[in-house]
Amino acid sequence: KKANMIIDKEYKIAEVDERVYGSFIEHLGRAVYGGIYEAGHPEADEQGFRTDVLSLVKELQVPIVRYPGGNMVSAYNWEDGVGPKEDRPNRLELAWRTIETNDFGTNEFADWAQKAGTEVMMAINLGTRGVDAARNFIEYCNHPGGTYWSDLRKKHGYEKPHNIKTWCLGNEMDGPWQVGQKTPVEYGRIAKETAKAMRLVDPDIELVSCGSSNSSMPTFPEWEAVTLDHTYEEADYVSLHQYFGNRDNDSQNYLANTMELERFIKTVTSICDYIKAKKRSKKTMMLSFDEWNVWYHSNENDEKMEPWQIAPPQLEDVYNFEDALLVGGILITFLKNADRVKMACMAQLVNVIAPIMTDNMGSAWKQTIYYPYMHTSVFGRGTSLQPVVVSPKFDTKDFTDVPYIDSAVVYNEENEEVTVFTLNRHLEEDILVNINVSGFEDYRIVEHIVLENDDLKAVNTSQNQAVQPHKNGQSELKDGRIEAKINHTSWNVIRLK
Ligand code: AHR
Repeated sequence: KKANMIIDKEYKIAEVDERVYGSFIEHLGRAVYGGIYEAGHPEADEQGFRTDVLSLVKELQVPIVRYPGGNMVSAYNWEDGVGPKEDRPNRLELAWRTIETNDFGTNEFADWAQKAGTEVMMAINLGTRGVDAARNFIEYCNHPGGTYWSDLRKKHGYEKPHNIKTWCLGNEMDGPWQVGQKTPVEYGRIAKETAKAMRLVDPDIELVSCGSSNSSMPTFPEWEAVTLDHTYEEADYVSLHQYFGNRDNDSQNYLANTMELERFIKTVTSICDYIKAKKRSKKTMMLSFDEWNVWYHSNENDEKMEPWQIAPPQLEDVYNFEDALLVGGILITFLKNADRVKMACMAQLVNVIAPIMTDNMGSAWKQTIYYPYMHTSVFGRGTSLQPVVVSPKFDTKDFTDVPYIDSAVVYNEENEEVTVFTLNRHLEEDILVNINVSGFEDYRIVEHIVLENDDLKAVNTSQNQAVQPHKNGQSELKDGRIEAKINHTSWNVIRLK
């Protein structure tokens, strides 16, 4: 099979906001306890942060991490997690029905983020709480001093404010599983008033209004229309969440899920623009895809979990090779929508539906999905270009006219680098892709990285990295054209300089 592609400097989509390579740490399962934090572990530093985990996080170059939830935040009292550790209470954590020791909280996370070289995206509780707790919390985090909450922070050992810039106004507030679920009008009102109060404390923050929990929610897309009608002028972003799974073991259909993702992004964008028109607003609302991933392998296990344990192994999906391909496709989709998707968080970062795992033996290791995430984060910085792709197509149970070849291109003008991310979704056939790069004179191929495996269900473990990239991709540049062999079911990174 054959495909053609044209790449040109002038076909610009937008600058890639690096925060599209964000991630997420929730107080859930072993994400915090036994994940990023494990006091007494041989690899832990003086603050109890796992240095082996920190180095894998740094390799990913994660620019922003959402915290502390997730569903957990909707019944969380932030005050429980600050101050002397011996005074912090054990609480029933209602979202995941565990015991939260509060040994780790806001200040520890701010320290961890600094060590990881990442920014904090902080979520506030709009389930059981509202304006008052939020305004106190932001005063504690961001006000320099001389007031009750900012001085309390100083008393807790944090002289300087954390200056957290990005704040989520609650989490999945449309979901019946949420503690304190809201109707769209209830949410719109409380989010707007909370946003106003938070901005009075710190006018420099950016705020994310809660969108639907996923595109199958019965209230989608009306939820967006009603809530944004309230929050449009206060918020800068609307959130989107989506998880995927190959529950029917139909790999061709599974890999086509980026079509659904694309439709979801376009629908939310249209609603934002409808509200913009309705309000005669000058502002364009951007999208924060602040939860996305594959999540289904661990569902059955989690149903059997005994309640009220401390940091049990919840949501520990072990990812296979086809999951890594879909993750690559999702990242390609974000890059192709770089004009509106400004933030995105792979949910989550460690142990809980995560690219990084820790095991009982004490080491940290990389799941299959780690690789496409790392490649895009490391090489996908610059301007997203619109590749013109002509590819053979396929139909599946849920989708029609799905191109086998899916691509995104990032041009880093400063470093004079072009990176082509390409997925071949054909389950059996390799595809020869002819890429016209004649606009990039004097560029050479630096490397062609490939993630491939004969077994779509191959997984990595702490002992065996069965799925990992190699650099022996076959592509050749001649007379302004690359002839690239894109093997069946493979993720490719072709770097030019
Ligand atoms: O990431 C796991 C959970 O998925 C989050 O807590 C919630 O927001 C979503 O439903």
